[in-house]
Amino acid sequence: MTQTLTLLGLESSCDDTAAAVVRQRDGARAEILASVVFGQTELHSAYGGVVPEIAARAHAEKLDGCVRDALAQAGITLADLDAVAVTAGPGLIGGVMSGVMCAKGICAATGLPLVGVNHLAGHALTPRLTDEMAYPYLMLLVSGGHCQYLIARGPEDFTRLGGTIDDAPGEAFDKTARLLGLPQPGGPSVQAEAELGDAKRFRFPRPLLDRPDCNLSFSGLKTALMRMRDQIVAEKGGLTRQDRADLCAGFQAAIVDTLVEKTRRALLLYLAEKPARPSLAVAGGVAANTAIRSGLMTLCAQLETDFVAPPLSLCTDNAAMIAYAGLERFRSGARDGMELMARPRWPLDQTSPALLGSGKKGAKA
Ligand code: KG4
Ligand code: ZN
Repeated sequence: MTQTLTLLGLESSCDDTAAAVVRQRDGARAEILASVVFGQTELHSAYGGVVPEIAARAHAEKLDGCVRDALAQAGITLADLDAVAVTAGPGLIGGVMSGVMCAKGICAATGLPLVGVNHLAGHALTPRLTDEMAYPYLMLLVSGGHCQYLIARGPEDFTRLGGTIDDAPGEAFDKTARLLGLPQPGGPSVQAEAELGDAKRFRFPRPLLDRPDCNLSFSGLKTALMRMRDQIVAEKGGLTRQDRADLCAGFQAAIVDTLVEKTRRALLLYLAEKPARPSLAVAGGVAANTAIRSGLMTLCAQLETDFVAPPLSLCTDNAAMIAYAGLERFRSGARDGMELMARPRWPLDQTSPALLGSGKKGAKA
């Protein structure tokens, strides 16, 4: 029996307050009817990072407005919904609680079913929303807060093959920009400088490549960069534009080489399972990096694997991915009651050992 489902999704686990409406007829492509994202960057800019209390208060203030805007954009009312999906973790606990309380309020008032969603599952299921990617596929989540390899097998069935043990790559780009006096966010500004530089002038380490697993480490790169920068300053009294560009190029090349090599290892583990249609998807702000993208595309071509990168607006935090992940859970029969808890930590793969890294935007998984 075909059934059309319309879900409202709420996201508030970090520094974006978001609400979205997604609709899907069983067996058809899902449609984003509305997606509203209210970023908090300005509120936190003076502090050099996200301040959890400020974030939680701003989420609590903005959520109902975002819901109203999303419903208006979709041209529907609460009566047209089948369920409400909300990020229940992992993330900054005050923000997650704001979202969960808002969703519970809507459900209590309307009688709609409530579906809790793991934020990371939202990212990991995005290629199904955008490209109808079939299970199982390999996912690389790579942003300022996340870095992990997952085999997605079902809406609640993930195998984590590895991830960062310290910083996320976006964090490393942001710190590098700060060390070189380049504007934030660091990713785009370091990439622009790198395009003018010589990647071979400075030799950066390739962390953890000597280990056979799929784990990554990025915190050593900024230490290496700081040492190189200080040495140039000691010798010449300052950095020239070319020094800066060469440092960025060397740093970016180290990230690309490490990510491509670890992705090769993750792909080989995944391909050993003989998936019918081998596919790799990337999501997260760092997936915007053209050097990383082209390294991964070349690798996928070598290993005869499809490569998918959803549009950037759906790679970064948003509520459409939460509504969609909630829709898949809802379709499979999952429901949560008023006892749904906000969780600061919530690994997608409960069986794999915890990773040490937490990312600058708070504990992830
Ligand atoms: O996914 P996202 O918007 O937010 C979270 O971290 O959750 O990712 C933001 C991160 C920032 O660290 C930013 O510097 C990085 O993505 N980024 C990039 C590029 N564009 C954004 N990193 C490398 N190259 C880029 N072109
Ligand atoms: Zn995220």
